[in-house]
Amino acid sequence: MTLDVRAAFPTIKSCLDDSERILHDAGIDLPRLEARVLLTHVSGLSIAVQMGYPERVVEKAPLFHELVARRAAREPMSYLVGQREFWSLPFKVTPDTLDPRPDSETIVEAALDCARDRSARLRILDLGTGSGCLLLALLSELPHAFGVGVDISVAAANIAMENAKALGLGARAAFVVGDWGRMMAGCFDIIISNPPYIPANDIDGLAPEVSKYEPRLALAGGADGLTAYREILPSAPGLLTPTGVVVLEIGADQACAVSTLAKMSGLRVAPIRSDLGARDRCLICKIDGI
Ligand SMILES: C[S@@+](CC[C@H](N)C(=O)[O-])C[C@H]1O[C@@H](n2cnc3c(N)ncnc32)[C@H](O)[C@@H]1O
Repeated sequence: MTLDVRAAFPTIKSCLDDSERILHDAGIDLPRLEARVLLTHVSGLSIAVQMGYPERVVEKAPLFHELVARRAAREPMSYLVGQREFWSLPFKVTPDTLDPRPDSETIVEAALDCARDRSARLRILDLGTGSGCLLLALLSELPHAFGVGVDISVAAANIAMENAKALGLGARAAFVVGDWGRMMAGCFDIIISNPPYIPANDIDGLAPEVSKYEPRLALAGGADGLTAYREILPSAPGLLTPTGVVVLEIGADQACAVSTLAKMSGLRVAPIRSDLGARDRCLICKIDGI
């Protein structure tokens, strides 16, 4: 019987070479980089160590290969490592929460621009909070603001609460399980929302990371993608202070339709903001005086 030394004592190099091939064949764009990230996650070996000591034996190779196989099945990297950076902050994410997107930072920037006095005691409402990334990013920039995050998913609301505590923002954030603003009363200075806005028939055509793994509740916006806006916008004026603003994420082709819904709800609409890819991404509206 011959001993397969490579299999018995897998080195950093052999682990990375094997995984790069597997991930490449699965259609992953940067297979070696992703393999390195998974290796760091599993073994704690930094990328500098991986590059400097390729012959070092990897102790947790079976766990590493298990994660590589899951990534090859197109499970999102953030679910495998349990974390995603957003607004330069670390957020716990799970299959119960949307994987926060860089484009959603446009919503945070727009809301901050609306909050002219950053030291004010602003009240913020985040409808469909998911991991809490939008609300908590805002609270990290607005030291005297208080925020309420609402989600219909109990599991998501719990993750958002965990993130608030981990970021040291728990004292200024509350999370509620509910259906958009239905249970809410009171006056908010800023309402933010990144609601589900993908038309139902489009979801299965998205990347497998999205269509197979992200929660449908976080994606599906009804037949035309606009169901959530039809719920959120009419109730917004009743939840805003007279000078309050609503800052909404929208799909790239939804500016016209969502602007119309906002106007039908008695709101004035500012020029649409674009994301980093120059796509329409953010609609700002107010009761008065845009
Ligand atoms: C697109 S995700 C956004 C999550 C997070 N705000 C972000 O930007 O990453 C939409 C969120 O809305 C929540 N949601 C869906 N329907 C809802 C409803 N009727 N009421 C409240 N939240 C809802 C989903 O559970 C999901 O967390």
